[in-house]
Amino acid sequence: MKPDAKAEPGAKANSDTKAARVLCVVGARPNFMKMAPVLRALGEHPGLEPRLVHTGQHYDPALSDAFFADLGMPQPDRHLEVGSGSHGAQTARILERFEAVLQEERPDLVLVAGDVNSTVACALAAVKLWIPVGHIEAGLRSGDRTMPEEINRILTDSISDLLFITSEDAETHLLREGARPEDIHFVGNSMIDSLRRHEAGARDREAWGQYDVEMAEYLLVTLHRPSNVDAEDRLRDVVRLLREAAEHLPVLLPLHPRTRNRLKETGLQADLESIPGIRILPALGYLDFLSLTAGARLVLTDSGGVQEETTALGVPCLTLRPNTERPVTVTSGTNLLVSDHAEDHIEILRRFVAGRVEVPNRVPALWDGHAGSRIVETIGAWWANGAPSRVRPR
Ligand code: UD1
Repeated sequence: MKPDAKAEPGAKANSDTKAARVLCVVGARPNFMKMAPVLRALGEHPGLEPRLVHTGQHYDPALSDAFFADLGMPQPDRHLEVGSGSHGAQTARILERFEAVLQEERPDLVLVAGDVNSTVACALAAVKLWIPVGHIEAGLRSGDRTMPEEINRILTDSISDLLFITSEDAETHLLREGARPEDIHFVGNSMIDSLRRHEAGARDREAWGQYDVEMAEYLLVTLHRPSNVDAEDRLRDVVRLLREAAEHLPVLLPLHPRTRNRLKETGLQADLESIPGIRILPALGYLDFLSLTAGARLVLTDSGGVQEETTALGVPCLTLRPNTERPVTVTSGTNLLVSDHAEDHIEILRRFVAGRVEVPNRVPALWDGHAGSRIVETIGAWWANGAPSRVRPR
């Protein structure tokens, strides 16, 4: 079956006369800092015309608007306002609404980032209209297919033409899954571009001062993975771990809406609030959170991005997950995975807080603040070469 003719997807690239229209997609919090440097570099390239679509997967001002403001991002050209829902419902809404946008915008390339539902839904809508897709942060694999993000990564990579990777291990995964070597581009980590751009300003904010703690004298905690917060028993273990941690150091805990909702639903909120030394904060903007990360003694997280940010900043990080799709943060960086057993967590935490664990501290290759320009150079060269694509008939 051919794609909808209205999209004219087979239109041949004409790089001599026309700038390539690049439709950049963001939807959820971790997308914004990955896309901001790319948008900036696209805007400076004479042969490329950036457009920005926000799916609205994240809509709370604290998870979206605050990031646009902190990162200096332009307002989206299109907003799909999809909101929350089950995986199927949310993905389907994005797919349907993004397809309509594609038919109007007729981009030459769709650029998606990371591994959220917006990433896979927009990539799928595009390739079905024979529009090539570029994937920023391709090739990461945890090997854990119980995580929705792993499914999103595998599917997005399998249909993308330009695979922008942040670390060399990603190439191995992609080649094993049948990617063509010429489609893989090792460009570095655009999220670290944002970090380097804003690091000095974030440190100057000294955000920890707002919470009555000293620099390097607190533990910063972020937990929002379904595997840690959705099941009541698991969430109870997490609260127990935080109680133990707060005996050693003040704990700053910005709450993601998912975690906040689960704490309310399970009645564990009162238990959490009763912990002496804990500061429960709302979800924070980019600069405040970066400031708190830079100033922390130790970070405890289950986020993907925070594992990388702590590595870039040289701050020790404990990741409350049995696996990671970002092994370079463990082999080169400051990250340590902690197992599923609550007792282990507590013992490891004690050793970290006491400064008895040495963490390596080598920033991975090409996490140097220039990934966005490399991505855009690659797109410019691809366009100048006639935009070769597996989904566009030649
Ligand atoms: C999503 C991503 C996850 C990423 C995380 C970062 C997927 C599958 N997951 O998870 O990879 O690490 O974003 O934050 O894409 N909610 C609000 N306000 C919002 C958005 C969500 O209150 O603006 C609440 C809703 O109750 C919603 C729940 O949070 O049902 C979960 O939101 P959702 O976007 O489905 O997944 P996240 O847990 O945020």
